[in-house]
Amino acid sequence: MEYISSLALKNPDFPRKLVILGSTGSIGQSTLKVIAKHQEKFSLLALAGARNIELLLEQALCYRPKYLGVLTKELAQKLKKLLPSDYHPQILWGEQGYLDLAQLEEADFVLSALVGAAGLGPTLKAVEKGKSVLIANKESLVLAGELIRKLAKKQKSVILPLDSEHNAIFQATQPHFEQVKKIILTASGGPFWNSRLDFKQITPKHALKHPNWSMGAKISIDSATLMNKGLEVIEAHHLFGLELSSIEVVIHPQSLIHSLVLFQDGSHLAQLGFPDMQIPISYALGYPRRLELTEQCNLDLTKFSPLTFYPPDLEKFPCLRLAQEALQAGQSHCVVLNAANEIAVELFLKEKINFQHIPLLIEELLAKHQSMPISSFETILNLDQETRIKTLERAKELKC
Ligand SMILES: NC(=O)c1ccc[n+]([C@@H]2O[C@H](COP(=O)([O-])OP(=O)(O)OC[C@H]3O[C@@H](n4cnc5c(N)ncnc54)[C@H](OP(=O)(O)O)[C@@H]3O)[C@@H](O)[C@H]2O)c1
Repeated sequence: MEYISSLALKNPDFPRKLVILGSTGSIGQSTLKVIAKHQEKFSLLALAGARNIELLLEQALCYRPKYLGVLTKELAQKLKKLLPSDYHPQILWGEQGYLDLAQLEEADFVLSALVGAAGLGPTLKAVEKGKSVLIANKESLVLAGELIRKLAKKQKSVILPLDSEHNAIFQATQPHFEQVKKIILTASGGPFWNSRLDFKQITPKHALKHPNWSMGAKISIDSATLMNKGLEVIEAHHLFGLELSSIEVVIHPQSLIHSLVLFQDGSHLAQLGFPDMQIPISYALGYPRRLELTEQCNLDLTKFSPLTFYPPDLEKFPCLRLAQEALQAGQSHCVVLNAANEIAVELFLKEKINFQHIPLLIEELLAKHQSMPISSFETILNLDQETRIKTLERAKELKC
């Protein structure tokens, strides 16, 4: 096991100068809740959302960052008109805007919480600039894990995982990464793991209703198909330098154990906590110190008894198997997996395809793909775009 980056922060002092990419999303909002409890420890330099400028405005008025980011020029103009006369942040927009925010000279920490492949460019830029990157955008690692690993080493950029499973493993392994034999990622199983529903009848409303976590739409559907766990297996491979055979998945419907590590001597260490993203986020924000989060204290295990565990059903949930196979097939297969999944999830949310079409589309696209070397950001973008087009074309032939 070899961690993706060095663990020595370039600037461990508080207050930490922070850029939040995706502040209007579920992770962004949880991050701001943690920061609200520790305002003296953080200085918010930039907040970026995409379309929800009402929420971004609310956040901006609260923290008055020097920079704001949105998806389009029109939204930037609209936001500017809503600002009070005594506040003049620089409003950046579009892909270039997110890239510029990710490399702001004054920033020590960049929190990458945009959703999907849109997060890749800014994440790479932040790593390239040697920032400490708090990574929620798992798609970045799925698409470009190798590239991020190389850049992080070269630029001494520290990467801190926000995903609860990877954050749990990170907490449990320090400082003994090299003595790890295996990791066990837990999965809630999502809303359908033991359901007898006909999967063709599943609607977006059903699938968005996660039993334990409150999350954005895309990751909620990924959790329902178990693709989220598949993406996390790939994420874990890149973060911890482990082969697929050393990354196990187990269904744990209570979501209290966030993951486990098996050490060489047979000891298993687990991290437990309420299913609330504020806990892993606060660990990464305060790293290597812990920040106080009073309301999450004291997990009364007697109230959650029994804790149960099951093997994942790869026939019922083929997406996990597809992600494991893509990881073994190589980086370009992971790009295809991710792009086909993003399009399939989008189409399912728009009720253009049914729930079972999600794995079907991904499997077909993967089957047609010829492995190719991935050496640059541009190669990834081209393959990503090409796959999106092919997935959309194939989806037109499917009947909902
Ligand atoms: N939610 C969780 O508990 C959780 C846990 C672990 C990992 N993650 C990962 O964290 C990332 C964010 O998840 P989330 O649940 O917070 O998602 P979310 O609630 O959907 O938020 C996504 C954020 O990205 C912005 N955005 C959407 N489309 C964009 C685009 N095309 N370009 C730039 N920005 C765009 C959104 O802005 P607007 O809303 O303003 O449009 C929002 O700020 C994902 O990669 C997810 O897998 C999430």
